[in-house]
Amino acid sequence: MKFFIDTANVEDIKKANDMGVICGVTTNPSLIAKEGKVFEEVIAEIASIVDGPISGEVKATTTDAEGMIAEGREIAKIHPNMVVKIPMTVEGLKAVKVLTAEGIKTNVTLIFNANQALLAARAGATYVSPFLGRLDDISTRGVDLISEIAQIFEVAGIDTEIIAASVRNPIHVTDCALAGADIATVPYKVIEQMTHHPLTDAGIEKFQADYKAVFGE
Ligand code: E4P
Repeated sequence: MKFFIDTANVEDIKKANDMGVICGVTTNPSLIAKEGKVFEEVIAEIASIVDGPISGEVKATTTDAEGMIAEGREIAKIHPNMVVKIPMTVEGLKAVKVLTAEGIKTNVTLIFNANQALLAARAGATYVSPFLGRLDDISTRGVDLISEIAQIFEVAGIDTEIIAASVRNPIHVTDCALAGADIATVPYKVIEQMTHHPLTDAGIEKFQADYKAVFGE
């Protein structure tokens, strides 16, 4: 399983990129709004940091296929690595079909059941984004959805990649890796949490103490 970072915060993107663990970025309208910057500018800045797929979502207020197609074409022009993120609706699927035919990559978002993922894949989506954490929030096991989609795509020989989204903690990461996600898109906080283990910290302290006892600083 590969990692994308799920943020529009360029400082967090730089930190994760410097660690060498991420190969792409996902954003959504809430994450862009949180940064308070112009969409095109923040996306271009992200593209100058990370050399990999960058998902930029159509405006939350654009709900018709024609509008999403027009915006998708503009998003694709920002940088060759752009992936147009489209919500899982009938209009969204129509937009995915057209953008795919034009060679524009798409990420169908807000996937909450396996049939939605299958439809998005058949419309031509490059990626599907099932939302793990938001399902857990309503007492439905999000990881089960990742497993189902992975199984269906395997059986059907579908190339669309599964991005486990709405990842909230390190256990989610392990769960979706085991469930067969191709990618997990993870906030920086969770990437940082994943680096820690108390025995690693204790081991470093002991090595330092043992070394200093004999060789000094
Ligand atoms: C990514 O594609 C999603 O937009 C994101 O992971 C949603 O995460 P949230 O449910 O924590 O807002």
